[in-house]
Amino acid sequence: MNTAIYPGSFDPVTYGHLDIIERSAQMADHLIVGVLKNNTKEPMFTVEERLEMLREETGRYANVEIRAFDGLLADFARDCGAKVIIRGLRAVTDFEYELQMAQTNRKLAPELDTIFLATDLRYAYLSSSIVKEVAYWHGDIRAFVTPYVAERIREKI
Ligand code: COA
Repeated sequence: MNTAIYPGSFDPVTYGHLDIIERSAQMADHLIVGVLKNNTKEPMFTVEERLEMLREETGRYANVEIRAFDGLLADFARDCGAKVIIRGLRAVTDFEYELQMAQTNRKLAPELDTIFLATDLRYAYLSSSIVKEVAYWHGDIRAFVTPYVAERIREKI
């Protein structure tokens, strides 16, 4: 696997994402973590803040690059020269949407394939929204995000 892309909103990055990044970085020569700019979701963090947190947490991997993207994932993958998209599957409920997305992306760019990694059981229930909600009500988020990200969330709230 030469260049692979792991796309998402990462608002903010959680231990679940970091687990997928670590495992993908061992399989790909070059892993690009793509942070979506034009999301329909109302983000807590700006794209720059999300990039900054990801860079802080992945700096130890020499083959991981963090980039923002706009528009279609298939176009971004083409621009990056990537032929593989990595997605984490947390539960069966993720599957239908993920399959639809993988098939659409392949239609848009037939050279693109999607590889699914089973999310670590410890993070199967996790999402960025859940972390923000727990933090908003002053719950303990140390099991979900790194101390640095937890501090950034606290500052925001
Ligand atoms: N561990 C923990 N949480 C995880 C996780 C994991 N392994 N994998 C996903 N999640 C969480 C995410 O944090 C996210 O939480 P949120 O909804 O609270 O923000 C949620 O699960 C959904 O994740 P995901 O499906 O990756 O959504 P996303 O918004 O992060 O990313 C894109 C979606 C960017 C991949 C997709 O919208 C896209 O490609 N957009 C570009 C436009 C395009 O090409 N559209 C056509 C594609 S068919």
